[in-house]
Amino acid sequence: MPGSKKVHIKTFGCQMNVYDSERMTEALAPYGYQPTDVVEEADVVVLNTCHIREKAAEKVYSELGRLRQLKDERRLQGLSTSIAVAGCVAQAEGAEIIARAPVVDLVIGPQSYHRLPDLLFRSQSESRRLVDISFPDEDKFGHLPARDPVSPGAVQTARRSSAAFLTVQEGCDKFCTFCVVPYTRGMEYSRPVDSLVTEALRLVERGVQEITLLGQNVNAYHGEGPDGRPWSLARLIGRLAEIEGIERLRYTTSHPRDMGDDLIAAHRDQGKLMPYLHLPVQAGADRILAAMNRKHTANDYRRLVDRVRRARPDIALSTDIIVGFPGESEQEFQATLSLVEEIGFAQAYSFKYSARPGTPAAKIDEQIAEDVKVERLARLQSVLEHQTRRFNTGCVGRVFPVLFERHGRRDGQLIGRSPYLQSVHAEGEPDLLGRIMPVEISAAGPNSLSGVIRAL
Ligand code: 5AD
Ligand code: SF4
Repeated sequence: MPGSKKVHIKTFGCQMNVYDSERMTEALAPYGYQPTDVVEEADVVVLNTCHIREKAAEKVYSELGRLRQLKDERRLQGLSTSIAVAGCVAQAEGAEIIARAPVVDLVIGPQSYHRLPDLLFRSQSESRRLVDISFPDEDKFGHLPARDPVSPGAVQTARRSSAAFLTVQEGCDKFCTFCVVPYTRGMEYSRPVDSLVTEALRLVERGVQEITLLGQNVNAYHGEGPDGRPWSLARLIGRLAEIEGIERLRYTTSHPRDMGDDLIAAHRDQGKLMPYLHLPVQAGADRILAAMNRKHTANDYRRLVDRVRRARPDIALSTDIIVGFPGESEQEFQATLSLVEEIGFAQAYSFKYSARPGTPAAKIDEQIAEDVKVERLARLQSVLEHQTRRFNTGCVGRVFPVLFERHGRRDGQLIGRSPYLQSVHAEGEPDLLGRIMPVEISAAGPNSLSGVIRAL
């Protein structure tokens, strides 16, 4: 009976997982599963996991410990609960999860989500515990239900209903030596342009005005165009920008090697493409970049940033950096600090290197001591935080178009995003949600701005 069952999906990790969780919710909707934020009332619980850094698997097992209690309590009330582990930990650990955690009914890898309903019902009806972590030949996107104009995941997505994610590319062939992604998400795959246009139109019908195109290596996008030839990301952006109702486009995450001339030019020519670029550099010393198999030098990165800034002088740059990669000397770490100081990032994510099983870097002998990593991360983060603060403070007094997406914690407060992806808080009527309004920035914090809405 539609509406009589509930699914709770807990999402860890990156935006691609957020997108996948929405698609899993949608895949279950035709079978009567409504999404819920309350795990205790869920008949199906899915943990959509992330494996990129340490302790991911441990986190999942401790979460599963809590779920075992919950499942027992529900059983006493005569209710059954199916527990599924999805995402990259599922892909990496596979049947190991079933062996270690008897509470789990289904282990499902990121390439198999279109089979989720079928596998769940099989596991329920046959009382079997199933594992599907294959990389099937079929295209999962082609087999997932077409997206409805109304999101069944409204409970989860309401907060970002005017902004949505759209996965255009999955997997990665770059094999950076620290990274599990090529093993958990598989080889690079780009979705065809037509199916993306169709999905974007559906999102617009839902009221979406801003779409962030997602991919582990999004600027390597080379999906089949309507002309049967591979299209670049820049061309895809151009096509999506033609859709009436789409006001803003973003994309993430990019690799410096795939930043083509046409994509750089799009930052100059395409008004709907927001002036923000997440471009991971990872390190500042060439020897470390080579050991990471990044296939670019620090100077390549500097030159690239120059070209991007020439195309779009106000662009906000964001990056990912790893400290304490095996063998990293103090001097090499300082090369990272210098590069950061030179470039000036609006935003950045920085991590201590964490050895991932099965990756080449995990086998390097000269692993860096934890206290050294902690100390380097603190030094780097103090520079990065300073840069973010400087960038945010520089916005005070300016007027930005802000797309309001959700209510704030305080009564009458709305939260939206600036073109530079900063959160902007302002007082406003609820009917401004889903609208782009000019906001005069009056104050800047470390992670957000606040301002006053001006009349249009
Ligand atoms: N250790 C630390 N950070 C990592 N990342 C990926 N793998 C590792 C690892 N083994 C970081 C990279 C990447 C981001 C998503 O996570 O900086 O860009
Ligand atoms: Fe991982 Fe490197 Fe691919 Fe990014 S480019 S997903 S860091 S292997």
